[in-house]
Amino acid sequence: MGLTHHCGDFSEGVPTKMRIALIGATGQLGTDLQKILPLDGSEVVPLGHQQIELSSDESVEASLSDVAPDCVINCAAYNLVDKAEEDPVAAYEVNSLGPRRLARWCGTNDVTLVHFSSDYVFGLDATRNEPYSEIDAPGPQSAYAASKLQGEYYVRSLCPKHFVLRTCGLYGLAAIQGAGKGNFVETMIRLGNKLDRLTVVHDQHCTPTSTADLAAATVDLARTEKYGLYHVTNSGATTWHNLAAEIFRREEISVELAPITTAEFGAAAPRPPYSVLSTAKLEAAIGRPIPAWQDALQRYLDARRPLVS
Ligand SMILES: NC(=O)c1ccc[n+]([C@@H]2O[C@H](COP(=O)([O-])OP(=O)(O)OC[C@H]3O[C@@H](n4cnc5c(N)ncnc54)[C@H](OP(=O)(O)O)[C@@H]3O)[C@@H](O)[C@H]2O)c1
Repeated sequence: MGLTHHCGDFSEGVPTKMRIALIGATGQLGTDLQKILPLDGSEVVPLGHQQIELSSDESVEASLSDVAPDCVINCAAYNLVDKAEEDPVAAYEVNSLGPRRLARWCGTNDVTLVHFSSDYVFGLDATRNEPYSEIDAPGPQSAYAASKLQGEYYVRSLCPKHFVLRTCGLYGLAAIQGAGKGNFVETMIRLGNKLDRLTVVHDQHCTPTSTADLAAATVDLARTEKYGLYHVTNSGATTWHNLAAEIFRREEISVELAPITTAEFGAAAPRPPYSVLSTAKLEAAIGRPIPAWQDALQRYLDARRPLVS
């Protein structure tokens, strides 16, 4: 941190064991990162919500000083998109000031910070129909999205050795055990098996992304020293309606699926009509293509079967 700079690079003759503080370790992404870390003789210190509170100066300072990491990976966030509309301060405290606390500590201590943001930083442009790159101007529509964007700015301005990774539509196996707020795939399988008919929005274009693939790309990127802002999703694009159809087809779930509009669904927070992210910069940095969302979905469905049967 990249992951090799402090820990795996023994070229100066002084082997040092890199310490990685993994915040949000029990969430979907944190769980999948734990499966592939440590690398190169590094040591991972998992920090769940019980070990660190991002909304507290004291907790962040005490946890990080105690762990004394060379690298901090922050997977924790306030992800309740609709609830954030009624309580924007709670979202701002965790998603904006939380990363600010981390970035100040990491910047002051010359530590690498890997932080995750969201495709929802885009969406104001209602006519957009081609993937967003990292140089496109953001336009958040909701309190959650604004809080994530502000978090990005704090990390980028306070910590020189940063990776800010925007991602989208996450699903990971940890949700089956109750991590985070669940995920779309699990919700569809549950509802599809329970109901005769289901309506799902068809006018939000995005790229569902498996946390297993996100974790792998994160590690590949963080092993470089190519710090900066990246878009990290599976490749391709779809809608929530088409994703649901694909899940039901592959899982042989018989349910009538009907498309509805975002307006008809009536969620409290606005969602981007189009938030597909270009992964070209990421793929150039890590030197490999990112798997298609269909491939990632099949691997997830195959991996979950033994866990739920
Ligand atoms: N999920 C998505 O669809 C999506 C889409 C785009 C971007 N992202 C971003 O991707 C990252 C990973 O998301 P994820 O889906 O893996 O998250 P997740 O499963 O919801 O896990 C989030 C973790 O953060 C912890 N946490 C929440 N508030 C905290 C606080 N104040 N202090 C410390 N820990 C706290 C939670 O612990 P408790 O549950 O115990 O509170 C949980 O373990 C996040 O930055 C998220 O914003 C997610």
